[in-house]
Amino acid sequence: MGEGDGKFKDERPSEEVGGPSKHCSMNHSGQNHRRDRLLAGLKDDARFLKNWASKPLTTGAVSPSGKALTERMAETVDIQSDLPVIELGPGTGAVTKALLKRGVRPQNLFCVEFNPDFCALLRNRFPEVHILQGDAYALKKTLIDHGIERVSSVVSSLPLFTRPVADRIKLINSALSLMPNGGEFIQFSYALVPPVKTQELPAGSELTGSPWIMLNLPPARVWRYKATR
Ligand SMILES: C[S@@+](CC[C@H](N)C(=O)[O-])C[C@H]1O[C@@H](n2cnc3c(N)ncnc32)[C@H](O)[C@@H]1O
Repeated sequence: MGEGDGKFKDERPSEEVGGPSKHCSMNHSGQNHRRDRLLAGLKDDARFLKNWASKPLTTGAVSPSGKALTERMAETVDIQSDLPVIELGPGTGAVTKALLKRGVRPQNLFCVEFNPDFCALLRNRFPEVHILQGDAYALKKTLIDHGIERVSSVVSSLPLFTRPVADRIKLINSALSLMPNGGEFIQFSYALVPPVKTQELPAGSELTGSPWIMLNLPPARVWRYKATR
C-alpha cells in the first residue's frame, strides 16, 4: 500500500526517524516498509477469505486481484476525459489502486461496492475517491442518485458469472449507453469464455479479449466492450 503518489492513504504506521547511521536507518526503513506491505496484503487476503466464506456468490474470489491483472484492467482507461470513471466491485481496492496509479484523478473516480465492510475500508484507504454503497446491477439508478448521467468508462470486477446472462447483457448495455463513442466497459474473468459473447452484444459495441494473465492466481483474462456507435 501507499507507494508515495499521495492519492491514497497509507495504512502503515509512520516509520521511526533516527538510528545509529543513515545507512542503517534506511535499511530498517526498507525492511519495515516491506514487512508492513506484506502484513497489509495478508490482512486483505484474510478479509477477502472471510467475506467469501459468508457471501461466496457476491464476493466471487478468495483473494484480491494481483498487480499484473489490475494494471491490465487500468491500462486503457481514458485519463484525459472529464467524465467520471466508474469502478464496480472494488472490494479491498486492488483495481482502485491501479486506476489511481494510471492517473485517474481520485475526485473523478466513483466506486460502487455492495459490501459495507469493504466500503468502510475503502473510504479510509482512499479518502478522496467517491465510495458509493449500492448495487452495481442497478447501475443507472445508483449513478443518477449521485448526479452522474454520463461516464467515460466502467471498470468491473463483479463476479458476473454468478448472475443470469440477461442481467450481464443488461448491465453492459446500460454502461455503454452512458458513454461517448470509444468508451469501454472493462471486465476481468477467470472463465474460458467472455461473460457476454459477441453475438449477444447490442449493435454499436465491440468485444476484445486479452491473452491469459498467468501471473494472477487464478489466471484471468480482461474483456473490453467498446462503444462504437
Ligand atoms: C471478485 S471481487 C473483486 C474485488 C477487487 N476489485 C479485486 O479485484 O480484488 C468482487 C467484488 O464485487 C462486489 N460485488 C458483488 N456484487 C455486487 C453488486 N451487486 N454491487 C456492487 N458490488 C458488488 C463484492 O462485494 C466484491 O467486493
